[in-house]
Amino acid sequence: MEEKLLAIKNNAISLILETQSPHELEEIRIQFLGRNGEVTQLLKELPKVAIEDRPKVGSLTNEVKNIIEDTIRSRLISLKDKKPHFSPDFDVTEPVDASEHMLGHLHLVTQAIREITAIFKEIGFTRVRYPEIEWDWYAFTSLNFPKNHPARDDWETFFIKQTPDVKKGPVLLTPHTSSGQVREMEKGKLPIKMLNIAKTYRRQSDVSHTPMFHQFEGLVVGENIAISDLKGTLNFFVKSYFGENRKSRIRPYHFQFTEPSFEVDITCGVCLGKGCRLCKEGWLELGGAGMVHPNVLKAGNVDPEKYTGFAFGWGVERVLMMKDGIKIDDLRTLYSNDLDFLKQF
Ligand code: FA5
Repeated sequence: MEEKLLAIKNNAISLILETQSPHELEEIRIQFLGRNGEVTQLLKELPKVAIEDRPKVGSLTNEVKNIIEDTIRSRLISLKDKKPHFSPDFDVTEPVDASEHMLGHLHLVTQAIREITAIFKEIGFTRVRYPEIEWDWYAFTSLNFPKNHPARDDWETFFIKQTPDVKKGPVLLTPHTSSGQVREMEKGKLPIKMLNIAKTYRRQSDVSHTPMFHQFEGLVVGENIAISDLKGTLNFFVKSYFGENRKSRIRPYHFQFTEPSFEVDITCGVCLGKGCRLCKEGWLELGGAGMVHPNVLKAGNVDPEKYTGFAFGWGVERVLMMKDGIKIDDLRTLYSNDLDFLKQF
């Protein structure tokens, strides 16, 4: 029986090494290890073996089974590595088992964009879209940026090789969704209540920065719009998106296109504002906001004597990172096509 087992093992290994598809490998697995397979059949002869030899034959059988399984596994890996996804024997018309576990789901960022859009829709914001390839005028100059501002530096912004426009300047990949502010005002319809969610680009890449990321920008312009309206809107978002137990605060900051300007924080989800290792004394930074600068209103042909407005711009990936129950140690993982990571959500 020992000789027969060794012959089966050698035969199986040479057949496995000749296979060219996972399908053939499965057939070989059944041929040797299946219910009526060669190894299983041979085991039926065990009662014929002398009692004292049985443990030895039993453990040899297990060893042969393991060797066959391991060889199949490593052959499968090498076939996957070297074969194109669509080998000639792959039948794309073959019906598949579309049971639930095989279905995919929307990417985490798409889910967040939909959730954010729905929250702002509840309080009257309309989602808009503006170009990702943008003129300097909309991204910087109309937003009150001086000519020598560092954000225009090649190292922060991706510029596109194209002759600059006489009025609108060079072409670039928009580094923020604020480039939609003046475009929205140019539509000439007041009051404004826009939500601009888009891809934005910067020359940055580390655990909390990606070269392409998404921002969502709110802009409200009308009569008697005050800081309290901004505060109320932020609070509504924070409670809807993060939960009733989280609070927001604004603190003074500087942006070229808002005056006064603020940084917005939310209470840390771990210590709920008490202070812990993760946060700064109970608070986590969320993004920028402020009252629209009169020069920006003027650039959009809106009378700053009559109208005021507020704006805010936050990162979609960053708010996602701060949500309870979502653990993202490195923002770049979101774009690494790592299915094991994405399947968790
Ligand atoms: C701005 O981009 C301003 N336009 C925001 C604003 C809008 C202020 C309206 C006032 C009024 P900032 O550079 O801080 O600000 O970026 C805003 C948010 O985008 C950040 O808080 C962060 O959440 C996100 N963000 C910025 N850079 C990256 C990056 N490389 N990767 C991922 N998220 C980023």
